[in-house]
Amino acid sequence: MRWGSYFCAMKNSPIGVFDSGYGGLTVLKEIVKQLPEYDYLYLGDNARAPYGQRSFDTVYQYTLECVEWFFQQGCELVILACNTASAKALRNIQQKDLPKIDTHKRVLGVIRPSTEIIGNYSHTGAVGILGTAGTVLSNSYPIEMHQFFPDIAVFQQACPMWVPLIENGEFDSEGADYFVQKYLDELLGQSPKIDTILLACTHYPLLINKIKQYLPAGISLVSQGEIVAKSLAQYLDNHQDMSKRISQTGSLQFFTTDSATDFDNHASLFFGKEVKSAHIFL
Ligand code: DGL
Repeated sequence: MRWGSYFCAMKNSPIGVFDSGYGGLTVLKEIVKQLPEYDYLYLGDNARAPYGQRSFDTVYQYTLECVEWFFQQGCELVILACNTASAKALRNIQQKDLPKIDTHKRVLGVIRPSTEIIGNYSHTGAVGILGTAGTVLSNSYPIEMHQFFPDIAVFQQACPMWVPLIENGEFDSEGADYFVQKYLDELLGQSPKIDTILLACTHYPLLINKIKQYLPAGISLVSQGEIVAKSLAQYLDNHQDMSKRISQTGSLQFFTTDSATDFDNHASLFFGKEVKSAHIFL
């Protein structure tokens, strides 16, 4: 049986949560904590992860394929819980694809909710952004932050080794120390005024203990999970038409484009609980 017909028969309309791999699970964990009543469908495109170093066109094409899959499963709302996909694919999907696919469906990202609020954390007016090369090169953070906090200076640092370290289970190893210190030094070397750092990649919360170890006192470290969850709660409050279309039985389902066994073995580190996933081909 195709998954599409399975969900259709159940008249299930979960919220889709997407990431290139496991990182989005750190966001889903916070979303479920705040909004446990809804149904959720998680998809990790593990077979093609990491997205961080991939071209704009490739990230857009992969993300669109995943979004279309969510729509086939009955999702009305999809959250790109991936900064790289939010930076490189979201605008095109919202402006070019959604009008052709279905004007009632929505795809939201993680950059807007983060940039709306992160400026409030800084007293010095200098915020640091740590992200993948794709996120940093897209300049999405400085551009969006300027809309909400025109007086805040934004400094960015790409951390291309962090996702591979995390995906390979090396986030707690001594080997990770070198790259944590290196990228932090490079970011903080850009301005002595930085007092707030955003982890602008949904994988990075796994490195939080190591990052704190090398972080000078007085600098706040902010992860996105809670911010995105609060923003989604607000969005659903403000869009009753959408919240009523989402099924509410508190179910959670996990899918991966790579091995389900591998996914299940790694996912609990990100999600905080055991998960049982199924494999899909895209
Ligand atoms: N978790 C993704 C993000 O938030 C990045 C992982 C990747 O490079 O695929 O940007």
